[in-house]
Amino acid sequence: MSVTRAWEVLVLLFFYLVPFCSLGTGARHTRQATLHLSAVPSSTRSEARQISSTLVPLAFQPFPLGHIKPSGWLKDQLTHSANGLGGHELDFYDYVAHSTWLGGNKEYSDLREGFPYWFNGLVPLAYALDDARLLEQTHSAADYVLTNQQDDGWLGPETGTERNFWGRMPILMGLRGLAEAGGSGWEERIVTSLWEFTRVMNEMLRDKFTGLIRHEGDRLEEGNDSWGRIRVQDLLITLQWLYESHSEGRNASQLMENMHLLINGSLNWADWYNPTIYIREDLNTIPDSVTTPLFPFLHGVNIGQGLKALAVFRRISRNDSLIQTSRNAVNWTFKYHGAASGAILADERLAGLAPYYGSETCTLVETMFSLSYLYQALGDSPFAHICEKIAFNALPVQITPDWWARQYVSQPNQPFAEHLDDTPFHDVNNWGQSYGLEVDYPCCTVNHHQGLPKYVAAMFVRVGERGVAHALLGPGGVEVDGTKVDCETEYPFADTLRYTITTNATTDLYIRVPDWADVTMTSVLINSNTTTEISPDCHTGLHKITISLGTTEVIYNIGNPGIILEHRANDTIAIHHGALIFALAIPSYVASTPPKAYSNGSDNPLPDGYEPPKARDYQYHNASAWNYAIDPATLSVHRSNSSDGLADPIFAPGASPIWMTAKACEIVWGLYKGVPDVPPTREKRKCIGDIVDIRLEPLGGAKIHVVDLPILKLS
Ligand SMILES: *[C@@H]1O[C@H](CO)[C@@H](O)[C@H](O)[C@H]1NC(C)=O
Ligand SMILES: *[C@@H]1O[C@H](CO)[C@@H](O)[C@H](O)[C@H]1NC(C)=O
Ligand SMILES: *[C@@H]1O[C@H](CO)[C@@H](O)[C@H](O)[C@H]1NC(C)=O
Ligand SMILES: *[C@@H]1O[C@H](CO)[C@@H](O)[C@H](O)[C@H]1NC(C)=O
Ligand SMILES: *[C@@H]1O[C@H](CO)[C@@H](O)[C@H](O)[C@H]1NC(C)=O
Ligand SMILES: *[C@@H]1O[C@H](CO)[C@@H](O)[C@H](O)[C@H]1NC(C)=O
Ligand SMILES: *[C@@H]1O[C@H](CO)[C@@H](O)[C@H](O)[C@H]1NC(C)=O
Ligand SMILES: *[C@@H]1O[C@H](CO)[C@@H](O)[C@H](O)[C@H]1NC(C)=O
Ligand SMILES: *[C@@H]1O[C@H](CO)[C@@H](O)[C@H](O)[C@H]1NC(C)=O
Ligand SMILES: *[C@@H]1O[C@H](CO)[C@@H](O)[C@H](O)[C@H]1NC(C)=O
Ligand SMILES: *[C@@H]1O[C@H](CO)[C@@H](O)[C@H](O)[C@H]1NC(C)=O
Repeated sequence: MSVTRAWEVLVLLFFYLVPFCSLGTGARHTRQATLHLSAVPSSTRSEARQISSTLVPLAFQPFPLGHIKPSGWLKDQLTHSANGLGGHELDFYDYVAHSTWLGGNKEYSDLREGFPYWFNGLVPLAYALDDARLLEQTHSAADYVLTNQQDDGWLGPETGTERNFWGRMPILMGLRGLAEAGGSGWEERIVTSLWEFTRVMNEMLRDKFTGLIRHEGDRLEEGNDSWGRIRVQDLLITLQWLYESHSEGRNASQLMENMHLLINGSLNWADWYNPTIYIREDLNTIPDSVTTPLFPFLHGVNIGQGLKALAVFRRISRNDSLIQTSRNAVNWTFKYHGAASGAILADERLAGLAPYYGSETCTLVETMFSLSYLYQALGDSPFAHICEKIAFNALPVQITPDWWARQYVSQPNQPFAEHLDDTPFHDVNNWGQSYGLEVDYPCCTVNHHQGLPKYVAAMFVRVGERGVAHALLGPGGVEVDGTKVDCETEYPFADTLRYTITTNATTDLYIRVPDWADVTMTSVLINSNTTTEISPDCHTGLHKITISLGTTEVIYNIGNPGIILEHRANDTIAIHHGALIFALAIPSYVASTPPKAYSNGSDNPLPDGYEPPKARDYQYHNASAWNYAIDPATLSVHRSNSSDGLADPIFAPGASPIWMTAKACEIVWGLYKGVPDVPPTREKRKCIGDIVDIRLEPLGGAKIHVVDLPILKLS
């Protein structure tokens, strides 16, 4: 048993704390100016002023989809997703199987985004696993979409004023993946199709930004017509790939013009991530007259997607001030509106720091993708750090162990996941924190499965000409250009990563040192020779190891400083240990029913025989009290002695090989709208029961939990 005493390592965890260097500078905190959204693109927008024929290079190049494969627990998780909801939607789920994209008539909104979201996630899932059934599904879906491309080049079923660029964005990302991973036949077909699409895009954008901006009244408030404008970066990423990799013999200047037009027609995130505009307060304390016009910038999924926007724009505009703006975007979002788990607290609209606010599953997976992109584009280690935090904590807790049900939102302090009579959420219904097929709204059903496959696709990146970096840690490998790297590890459940590298020429392996690591305790061992200390780059967190021809074994031991306490609002703490967050794990009893139809928060079941039997809706009820204050000085870490390897599924109650115990007592702590209120302030905390031992587990498995824990000295 390894025991770490919290008081030995009591550390204040500041946001962006990097033990081996300090980054960046602060920004002003006052808000004086008001942001007026322009209905018509501003003639003073400077982003696209210069037309340049090359794009600003990324700090690290992604490998084409298909080169990176997961192993260990990560592969097990993807396999559950493939055998679960994500991998079965084309078989039964109306908004995928009978989408207008496939000739059907089922859509949950006239944005027609259900099938595009599903496709965007399924392509990387299918290629991560080389799963024959899913490969066949992605191929037949892609074949239908490409075969039905309209004569003028439009992709998708819409005609006339129904056309909106947004729904294309996830489809194009999926098609790019298929072009990279699917062999030359798919590559040729997709590249040809995308160039056709580029033509119609040019006609439309030149004609008053048709498809991006609606003209009837140019409404910009809580409207669906702004979705394309606020999400252009998700289209630009694919267009940039087309431009850099497949523009020989094509009209590249037209494609470049499209990219400039998209930026010119966008709602620009730089207007929002402006120190005089940005709202640092809890949005629920701000009048609607201020927040309503800003809604596109406050919508959780838009933010998750938009964190990368300015880094994408910068590749075209070459405006380097967007680097700091991108850092501010991430910094402010998590500092003022973030949970300890890496989730953005936005129950449809951005919220504050109260631990009863919700984080949406769609927002998590989009945020992960944005952060992995930002690490590739700009190379700042905190982007990778937060991406890992979400992958190992915030995302798994919102999905059932069998990957057949997901929440719409999860809360940091959520000791039950059940029907609520009232809710503390801005716009999420009474079933939103239960688990199910489509509770609250279908977007998270069709989008949840992109999270881990895209994490896998970004695990390794190219550094320079021949270097390979393990950018996002976890078990898996990459094989490319005569170099094969395999990493075997139980990380984040253990701190040792074992690499086997086989290469036909001298190459560099870079390993990322997590921001929480103690560098002085971190070491690498090469071919069983002497252990060496490491010296990670201050900006990227990467440590370089030169690998010679042949096969090399590298053992990377991350120095884990033990428990790290993050101080949260009102004398509460969140508990970190390595890349895992530990939460008070509430024992549960679980009740399930056939899935309900989402519409109108209804209790109505879906039609008989609609869904496979494994698709159920679940409520997790608390089987104990949850209103504890804990003494952090009594925290100790326990590790199972079992040599059987990790449990599968690993993100299930009790499955983790590491857990903690601590002394705690019940305190008076009431409810607010049916859920735990903000924890009482310190002077109001008094034990109302005996001092007892409580158990803390990694959040990902602790489906019902308390993360932001009130503290009390119990001696
Ligand atoms: C993050 O933002 C805070 C508040 O604006 C500032 O004090 C801090 O220096 C910023 N950190 C980075 C890395 O930019
Ligand atoms: C974008 O807007 C800028 C500033 O108004 C203008 O100079 C530029 O020509 C526009 N680009 C395109 C492609 O319309
Ligand atoms: C660069 O971007 C910043 C932030 O959006 C903007 O204020 C500035 O005007 C831009 N500079 C140029 C030269 O376009
Ligand atoms: C946008 O929303 C309005 C009002 O909610 C609705 O009438 C309209 O059909 C929607 N249009 C699109 C393209 O989604
Ligand atoms: C290429 O695109 C530009 C800009 O849209 C257009 O002016 C030009 O005619 C196109 N050239 C060809 C050969 O199609
Ligand atoms: C902190 O406590 C005060 C007083 O109870 C409360 O109004 C506030 O919402 C709390 N803040 C958070 C983020 O928990
Ligand atoms: C290494 O293998 C790759 C892929 O087979 C090949 O393209 C490359 O030329 C080889 N390099 C050397 C130095 O043999
Ligand atoms: C072991 O490492 C030392 C110093 O790093 C090096 O000089 C030596 O050649 C290595 N020995 C083997 C067997 O790799
Ligand atoms: C939602 O349900 C309420 C109460 O049953 C009903 O009054 C309302 O019309 C329903 N709304 C929709 C959009 O179905
Ligand atoms: C579960 O939580 C509720 C709400 O605080 C509480 O009333 C109930 O007693 C708890 N259940 C058990 C079994 O302790
Ligand atoms: C692990 O083994 C040691 C020595 O046998 C024992 O003292 C300890 O209790 C075991 N730990 C657990 C968690 O079972």
